[in-house]
Amino acid sequence: MSTPQAGILQPLPPLARYLSFSLAPDSDVSAGLAALQAVVDGERTVAGIGLAPVSALGRKVAGLKPFPPLNGPGVELPSTPFALWLWLRGEDRGELLHRARHIEEALAPVFHLEESWDAFKHDGGRDLSGYEDGTENPTEEAAVEAAIATDGSSFVAVQRWIHDFRRLEAMQPEERDDCIGRRRSDNEELDDAPASAHVKRTAQESFTPEAFVLRRSLPWAEGREAGLMFVAFGHTVDAFQAQMRRMVGLEDGIVDALFRFTRPLSGSYFWCPPITDGKLDLSRLHD
Ligand code: HEM
Repeated sequence: MSTPQAGILQPLPPLARYLSFSLAPDSDVSAGLAALQAVVDGERTVAGIGLAPVSALGRKVAGLKPFPPLNGPGVELPSTPFALWLWLRGEDRGELLHRARHIEEALAPVFHLEESWDAFKHDGGRDLSGYEDGTENPTEEAAVEAAIATDGSSFVAVQRWIHDFRRLEAMQPEERDDCIGRRRSDNEELDDAPASAHVKRTAQESFTPEAFVLRRSLPWAEGREAGLMFVAFGHTVDAFQAQMRRMVGLEDGIVDALFRFTRPLSGSYFWCPPITDGKLDLSRLHD
């Protein structure tokens, strides 16, 4: 029986490391994927596969598509495809570092490590802007319904956002709360939030069809730069894409006020295969 990768549905870990890989030219993709199956358990390490290895095998995964380079008034979203994305979940930074090193070694020479980002849970689950993140996430059965397809697969949208803390801190507290549409002090939703407020833009029930996703984002930091590693799982990428289109103003010309203090540096979609008999089930690629 196939089950989803368990790490998708579990609560956020205290620490994480995200690895993004490209595919080496003319490499043995099947051997690379076999190596991947040996190092990924779906729980401590969650895997997402991009388009490159799928098309190198001459296959298609229904629902896996390129991340669209969406542009709205004054905002541009980068599309940065990767062949493979790994989410290492843990509680010890040194253990994560060594796990990442071993995985990198095991996947070479097929998958080449392009990026590695350290992430962490902050203040019980807040974004580094100070706002609680994940409040309106679906839970239990609704989380499974939002994030997992009938065969146990999931799709993930990943975007690394970088915050401009000087701009955030230059705002009055009311202006900041209006950007999000919730009060930072007590997380209450504002009755009179402007249409540009982030939670107005993304209100999941307000889409047709309703656009629920399971957000599993964590703050990241590297030297003096920091922001949010936005990670949203869905049974397709459609709900994320509908939210993103509205955030950049493609529906009504109104841009999400989040962009006043943060912007995405990357954007990619991946297919997260199910687990069968304890191993990533890649049968969709080999049938
Ligand atoms: C730096 C980037 C972002 C930050 C700091 C951020 C922060 C937040 C915060 C503080 C909330 C309110 C609490 C909650 O329900 O979680 C929220 C809600 C939400 N965000 Fe974001 N977010 C970011 C990017 C995104 C993106 C890119 C999307 C999707 C395209 C998104 C989708 C949502 C959704 C669906 C909700 C819940 C809306 C509802 O149904 O009430 N967020 N976000």
